[in-house]
Amino acid sequence: MGGRVFITGGSGFIGSHFVRACLNQGFQVLNFDALTYSAVPGTLLDIEHNPNYMMIKGHVEDRAKLEFAFQNFEPDKVVHFAAESHVDHSIDNPIPFLETNITGTLYLLEIMRDYLSTKKQGARDTPFHYLHISTDEVYGSVTDHPFKEEDPYAPTSPYAATKAAGDHLVQSYIKTYNMPATIVNCTNNYGPNQFPEKLIPHMILCALHEQPLPIYGDGLQERNWLFVQDHIEALLTLLPGQHTNNQYNIGGRTTATNLEIVTTVAQILDQLQPRRNKQPYKSLIHHVADRLGHDQKYDLISDRIQRSTNWQQKTSLEAGLKITCQWYLQNQKWWQDILDQGYELGRLGDKSAKCA
Ligand code: DAU
Repeated sequence: MGGRVFITGGSGFIGSHFVRACLNQGFQVLNFDALTYSAVPGTLLDIEHNPNYMMIKGHVEDRAKLEFAFQNFEPDKVVHFAAESHVDHSIDNPIPFLETNITGTLYLLEIMRDYLSTKKQGARDTPFHYLHISTDEVYGSVTDHPFKEEDPYAPTSPYAATKAAGDHLVQSYIKTYNMPATIVNCTNNYGPNQFPEKLIPHMILCALHEQPLPIYGDGLQERNWLFVQDHIEALLTLLPGQHTNNQYNIGGRTTATNLEIVTTVAQILDQLQPRRNKQPYKSLIHHVADRLGHDQKYDLISDRIQRSTNWQQKTSLEAGLKITCQWYLQNQKWWQDILDQGYELGRLGDKSAKCA
């Protein structure tokens, strides 16, 4: 391939895997990232000196800095990962979610609108394309069927509401300004380098520290799980912008309850690193108060991307969970740095007072 990709949030979990994949494909990459709490310094150490890689520290809400970085780089592809992404944090404090996920997205759209109207971009050989990374949570909880792209939005958490607003803004720019853009709505990603606030790494680290494995409520809520590398491959197929639709769902084949996920992680750890007391990790499972407004089930139908690009999920949930557990066992320094910076494996999202 080749070309110039401007990536926001490239130091985060999914973004960092995508940065690496783009460099492997021969792209020049500018990573614009605010380096907030969830960007772990060790994640991209290996590519820091790659001549095709550049990084600028900045918030997408800092319009002037974003514009300066963007205009100087003159990208032909833009992929927007930067987001506040953790539902529990959004329950404690929705404000940064609005700022990053809505205002930041709007600034990026405005900068691209301006850029596309200049002759500079018109003269380039490679067609411009904007890939907007979103979530299955915009559709709300599944009641009867897994969601298709045509289904209406019904977000419930503050996080999901801000992502839905971002998607609506992108749709409005596609319709009003003819912006060459695609929205992708993806299910729960997991894999190496995921910040330990999310279910799977949280459980791995709690288990390795002999702490209770906190299941919210009865643990029967279901999520559709996608190994991060499969997501990256799907995004690479869409990056050139040669597909016909402007919105694609990307999900895995497997849906599982939280209890099933945690039990499987516990069993894998039993094999890879048995506890000193010989008890199964499963015995650390502990039910705690449910998440406020907890959506029962997320699930998507990904037929459209499979038909359009031949993309297929390659990694089964079982294989992906094993790779993930192995990675956390082999990369203790990566997560020890997070803990040493003061991150605690305690409960998030329960500080909010309910109104009634
Ligand atoms: O569905 C895609 C979304 O997946 C992304 O858009 C979000 O950015 C990402 O955070 C994720 O949202 P979830 O809320 O589904 O992920 P999380 O890992 O926080 O929780 C997964 C499920 O596990 C959820 O039902 C809550 C539950 N849970 C989570 C944690 C951290 C627990 O039972 N205990 C926990 O300690």
